[in-house]
Amino acid sequence: MLRFLTAGESHGPGLVVIIEGVPAGVALLSEDIDRELARRQKGYGSGGRMSIEHDHAQIIAGVRYGRTIGSPVGLLIENRDFANWQERMASQPVEHPDAPVTRPRPGHADLSGGMKYHHDDLRNVLERASARETAARVAAGAVARVLLRYLGVRVAGFVLGLGEVKAGREWWEAGLNGEPFDFEAVAAQAEESPVRCPDQAAAGAMMEAIREAQTSGDTLGGVVAVAAAGLVPGLGSYAQWDRRLDGRLAAALMSINAVKGVEIGAGFSGAGRRGSEVNDPILPTGSDDQRTRPWPFRRTQNMAGGLEGGVTNGEPLVVHAAVKPLATLAHPLSSVDIRTGEAMPAHYERSDVTAVPRAVVVAEAAVAWELAVAYLEKFGGDHIDETVGAFQQYLDYLRYYAAWSPSGPTGK
Ligand SMILES: Cc1cc2nc3c(=O)[nH]c(=O)nc-3n(C[C@H](O)[C@H](O)[C@H](O)COP(=O)(O)O)c2cc1C
Repeated sequence: MLRFLTAGESHGPGLVVIIEGVPAGVALLSEDIDRELARRQKGYGSGGRMSIEHDHAQIIAGVRYGRTIGSPVGLLIENRDFANWQERMASQPVEHPDAPVTRPRPGHADLSGGMKYHHDDLRNVLERASARETAARVAAGAVARVLLRYLGVRVAGFVLGLGEVKAGREWWEAGLNGEPFDFEAVAAQAEESPVRCPDQAAAGAMMEAIREAQTSGDTLGGVVAVAAAGLVPGLGSYAQWDRRLDGRLAAALMSINAVKGVEIGAGFSGAGRRGSEVNDPILPTGSDDQRTRPWPFRRTQNMAGGLEGGVTNGEPLVVHAAVKPLATLAHPLSSVDIRTGEAMPAHYERSDVTAVPRAVVVAEAAVAWELAVAYLEKFGGDHIDETVGAFQQYLDYLRYYAAWSPSGPTGK
């Protein structure tokens, strides 16, 4: 079983990730992880923190001479900012503790977390509830991406909307309409954009909206999309509620800080349409199509977003996540001081105007992780050669699945 845990506070010495269940023999370098960490740090509308941190994952366990050895993989990501917080975030008692944070921010974890863990200094909550932790998730997701490369899977994400600005969705809806969709080109355009939006005109308007929000001391949310190409049918299962891949993806995405909604495929927009429009007709494919996919079916559209019954159906995975406007406001909302009960403006500290472009990279990591878990569940393997061997065997089986198909038992 593939699983991971993280530890670390936002301004503590660093973040720790332990990943268990990575097969032996996987080529893994810290560069593979650092590349994703750098992507997470890039995004118009980020606060000053990102110019302090230049994240690097030190691999401290589970890899030797560039290959995994089957032991848990241990990663350490140092917080450079800790240099400025040594006294305030000391693990040992100090003579002069920092002034406590006592004015919870509406929309952050400060108040609910403080009540839960009996904290009269809300810093004890916000240090862990901070999205700094998502760097650790992106690191785990980077390892998942490396595994997925062996299985021909590519994951990419984009910003679909930021504040009131919506990207022209033609290129994206092509994915749902089952039209040819240049996954690589769209991913490359998103990578070039400071807001991770492949629609250049919309990207300009998004940057303008961010500047305006910053000037007025406000924050912005938006919608991110993640797609995965190259998936085999049969990942996940309908047989038990907690094995449904749609549920597992939704939980992984919803658990990302500030994510308040998840859609699979047509999602909420599909709910208002007719069954004849939203369910994806099945067609037989010719032998040409089978060069790219061995199973002899295709769909006329992809409203299901690649999942039916909690199982991948061989079409690209398409998910969306709604990211709320951030809770830390330069013009703080009203709050209450937990020491005195007095009405006071909420606490403020350095913060992002929007997290939407960066949330794309975190959402990609969540999707990559759940897909890697699903692949290892299906194909197993203590060594990556075993995983790939079982995967190839499955592809061979899929070629023969339908009796009438060009390469199936009767067609051969
Ligand atoms: C990449 C990323 C960066 C974030 N940066 C901030 C930030 O600078 N300020 C802030 O108030 N919230 C930020 N958040 C969101 C908070 O961490 C989140 O709202 C908080 O943990 C409460 O959880 P909830 O919104 O999911 O209920 C960020 C989220 C993400 C994904």
